[in-house]
Amino acid sequence: MLTQRILVVDDDPLIRRQLQDLYNERNYEVDAAACAEDALELLQAGEYALGVFDLKIPGTDGISLTKQVREHWPDLAVVIITGYASIRGAVEAIRQGADDYITKPFEREEILLATAKILEKRKLLDEIDYLRSQLSDRYSFANMVSRNPQMHEMFSMLESLSQNDATVMIHGESGTGKELAARAIHFQGRRKASRFVAINCAAFPDSLLEAELFGYERGAFTGAVADRIGKIELSTGGTLFLDEIESISLPMQLKLLRVLEQREIEKLGGNRVVKVNMRVIAASNRNLQEMVASGEMREDFFYRINVVPIEIPPLRDRIEDVPLLVHEMLKNNPLSRERGISRLSNKALQALMGYWWPGNIRELGNVIERSILRTSGQVIKDVDLPGNANMQASPAMAKSRDYELPLKEYLKRVERDYLSAVLRRNRGGVSATAKHALIDAATLHRKMKAHGLKREDFRTPAGGAAS
Ligand SMILES: Nc1ncnc2c1ncn2[C@@H]1O[C@H](COP(=O)(O)OP(=O)(O)OP(=O)(O)O)[C@@H](O)[C@H]1O
Ligand SMILES: [Mg+2]
Repeated sequence: MLTQRILVVDDDPLIRRQLQDLYNERNYEVDAAACAEDALELLQAGEYALGVFDLKIPGTDGISLTKQVREHWPDLAVVIITGYASIRGAVEAIRQGADDYITKPFEREEILLATAKILEKRKLLDEIDYLRSQLSDRYSFANMVSRNPQMHEMFSMLESLSQNDATVMIHGESGTGKELAARAIHFQGRRKASRFVAINCAAFPDSLLEAELFGYERGAFTGAVADRIGKIELSTGGTLFLDEIESISLPMQLKLLRVLEQREIEKLGGNRVVKVNMRVIAASNRNLQEMVASGEMREDFFYRINVVPIEIPPLRDRIEDVPLLVHEMLKNNPLSRERGISRLSNKALQALMGYWWPGNIRELGNVIERSILRTSGQVIKDVDLPGNANMQASPAMAKSRDYELPLKEYLKRVERDYLSAVLRRNRGGVSATAKHALIDAATLHRKMKAHGLKREDFRTPAGGAAS
């Protein structure tokens, strides 16, 4: 938790007393020192959020104290108190890293306001720092990163699934990370020493798919010149990943159903039955229930495969992940590392966050790769982005359009929609929302007030605020 302790340094006992009383009244913790030496001692021992220094103190002055503080306690906020006559000294102190100054004699409200303002700013910075430090474990699972609450729930789900053998059905649009999720389950779990065998069911016509999955014995059909072990058998002890399961024909579904139920296979052209023991994870970008309804999928097969369904949200529904993903991509790309490209301009980032990403993370990866090639400096600018990412509006946005409104009212509604959505996603977190929107927290507060949005209303995922 953030300390709200304040250190007052002034040689004038009256002012020390006055400030201490004032701060105590407002429930801040206060320590006081009469000279720089004592101040440094206190700073070493305790954790302070703010130092209030008189410009003229014995031993040294407020400016050199500020300088020392900046070197050793870079996170401490500093306010300088100065007589009206020595404003220039205060300006110098600010140049040395003080956050603000107040002239004597001061008004109570003036100093309280300055204090509150600075501490609030510190708190925001602390929060950002904290989030950054949590990045490695809280924002990622296996090779997946995200700052979206729904994704975090999915990470926990993947983690617990890795500890058992349940059949998992991963659903998500193309490029959302279905295979990555499947690998996460396998490689975090106890089967990780055995194989992860992936097969793209859409890549083979039925007859070949059967041979791929079940294997065959020599002479099973023309061209079967040697025994071949199938993917199912290969995955024994490990995980079988059935990608694009929606493309499996009805007869093949029946064959797979038997494998899932009996955990044994019969090779083509063979008369041997082989026991298999693999974990099955399937992936699809179609709604399988609809396929059952339309007769494209056997109901019994659906229930066998859909034991634990997992939904990966599309990138447009977690657009706050874009900066994080881009950061990862730049970090992992050899060319951007070599050229020292570590970030995007705000404008470029905004363009990426305004796009609807039909190809999801895979598409984002392609865009970043192409942008790296087009970038001459160390920052990727909006002009470096290939065409698709510069497209602005998304079809999702088009739904709520009402062109009968006056422009001003229309824009107001869009802004309110936007803020509600982002606040909800961040569970009412103002600093996260401000960061996402690339506006400062004060502006966000003002806008929230104007739209009647309260952060408390967004604390729970099903927040009560109307959007
Ligand atoms: N959360 C994530 N963090 C980092 N990288 C990700 C994340 N999700 C996906 N990726 C990357 O995006 C790309 C697409 O992921 P993946 O192949 O798992 O998606 P998919 O859903 O299987 O796609 P498709 O439907 O096209 O097969 C991969 O390069 C993967 O590493
Ligand atoms: Mg895939």
